[in-house]
Amino acid sequence: MAGRIPSTFIDELLTRIDIVDVIDARVPLVKKGREFQACCPFHHEKTPSFTVSQVKQFYHCFGCGAHGTAIGFLMEYENMPFPEAVEDLAAKAGVVIPREDDESDKPRENLAPLFSLLERVGDWYKQQLKSLPQADTAVHYLKQRGLSDEIATRYQLGFAPEGWSHLHEAIGQDTLTTQQLTRTGMLIKKESGGHYDRFRNRIIFPIHDSRGRIIGFGGRVLGDEKPKYLNSPESPLFHKGQELYGLYQARKSNRNLTQILVVEGYMDVVALAQFGIRYSVATLGTATTSDHLNQLFRTVSRIVFCFDGDRAGRDAAVKAMDTAIPLMRDGRETHFMFLPDGEDPDSLVRKEGTQQFEQRITRSTPLSRYFFTHLEQQVDIDSLDGRAKLISLARPKLSRLPAGMFREMMFKQLSTLVEMEEEVISHHLLEPDTPKSSSRPTQPQTTISGRGPSPVRFALSALLHNPHLIEQITTIEPLKQINNPGIPLLIEVIETLQQHPNLTPAALLERWRDKENENLLHKVAQWTPPIPDAGVQQEFQGAIQQLLRLADEQLAERLYNTPIQELTAQEKAQLQQLLSAQ
Ligand code: UTP
Ligand code: MN
Repeated sequence: MAGRIPSTFIDELLTRIDIVDVIDARVPLVKKGREFQACCPFHHEKTPSFTVSQVKQFYHCFGCGAHGTAIGFLMEYENMPFPEAVEDLAAKAGVVIPREDDESDKPRENLAPLFSLLERVGDWYKQQLKSLPQADTAVHYLKQRGLSDEIATRYQLGFAPEGWSHLHEAIGQDTLTTQQLTRTGMLIKKESGGHYDRFRNRIIFPIHDSRGRIIGFGGRVLGDEKPKYLNSPESPLFHKGQELYGLYQARKSNRNLTQILVVEGYMDVVALAQFGIRYSVATLGTATTSDHLNQLFRTVSRIVFCFDGDRAGRDAAVKAMDTAIPLMRDGRETHFMFLPDGEDPDSLVRKEGTQQFEQRITRSTPLSRYFFTHLEQQVDIDSLDGRAKLISLARPKLSRLPAGMFREMMFKQLSTLVEMEEEVISHHLLEPDTPKSSSRPTQPQTTISGRGPSPVRFALSALLHNPHLIEQITTIEPLKQINNPGIPLLIEVIETLQQHPNLTPAALLERWRDKENENLLHKVAQWTPPIPDAGVQQEFQGAIQQLLRLADEQLAERLYNTPIQELTAQEKAQLQQLLSAQ
């Protein structure tokens, strides 16, 4: 990705600006104790519950749950995309944004030779489809599936002939070429030495990045052999979770796309394009990730997911919805459409034609409706218990929605459904999931589900608010063995702070922007342990000790449950020691 803003710059920028100035210029703040307050700009209220912390450099509304850093505030309040918000703040602070390339400490590998290699590979596959006598079967296959020449050319389809080394021989067998072909996944290394072609006797679909460079290939068998599709493996050029098949062609065919249809397969994208629906993309044999959706939302504001009508399709839809929820900023739309049983977009568009298929797209179900229909199916909405259950099912999902009109409307819809006051609902949904604070510091407990803050949560929160506590941590290896929710995030935070010990809480939060644990981290950030400042260090050490004990317990349990003959001598000794220590 060219010109990414380095995260060290974001850290630095956030120490140079003051969130209080940034917000006060737009929403006048009043100082109350250590914090600043105003009526929340993100929801209607008469008494202020919007607070800005100068120490932590972030804001939080106790009414609607809106929260974030100065960057996040500009994004929400001014509707700015992330880079613009950073530019705005940088301009105010009078600093120039370095781009990743200028400041990278280790020189980036030059990938140009790999790109041009794959270009040659793609050309060769295309050539094979035209010239070889044995390509007849491939041409025949494409014809029989109804593909036009024009569309095969537009998607640059090719053919990998039968045999173990045609590609290798054609592209080059010298050491460097062999090494490059192997790194890009075109060749597979034999254990016995030597290499063989990955794609053999398959129709080839080149996969392009958004700039039109080939980064990998998909290959389909001509018959019923398995696997039906084979994709390039992860490589320096190809990252499945980020790339979408067909996005380059969709953008190329229309610079002003308004919506994108997400389908499952290569053939679906190609068939739809042949029928004039040139705005579909496919994930590459993986579920849709937030990287995928972020990329799509940078191009269009409306995404329509297309799924099979069967159970697998419905499951995939629920997953896609969960991925989309945190990204539903105002102005973005996500829709769902389900196809009749046994059909996929390829078969259906051929059967019923462009117009009818596009009508299905137009009539697709908006996320808001799909969300509630899906939940309602799981409860008896006519009973009080059912409505209570509906709230508890909706809560974890709705609380992940970004603050804004859309969220407000979802709350309203929920309150209508369950026949409760909207204010009660939004308060209940957004209230941080913590026990009522007591004056006496609670002893952190060992399980995340137990009452009171878990040691993981406590440690995370303490670190976030007091990054200097990182000095207390000497070893993290045992922590890595713990199998508990929150542990991976705790380890990520520890490792980040070990490398950058001076990060402010806001800078830490920014480092998790658009990452998997972003929401979890924000949740923790909003929660301050009910402990006087002076006691934090001791409690923190206590929490870490508890986690280390938990690591021992889990290890002991694992070893204990392993048949004794499978334990190494060292493990046996370890088990004995652990058991005697308990
Ligand atoms: P499907 O099995 O639904 O196939 O896989 P399809 O797209 O309808 O293909 P045709 O019509 O039989 O040619 C959907 C997608 O899942 C991935 C591919 O991306 C495929 O397009 N897939 C499927 C694999 O990666 N490997 C497989 O073996 C099968
Ligand atoms: Mn199909």
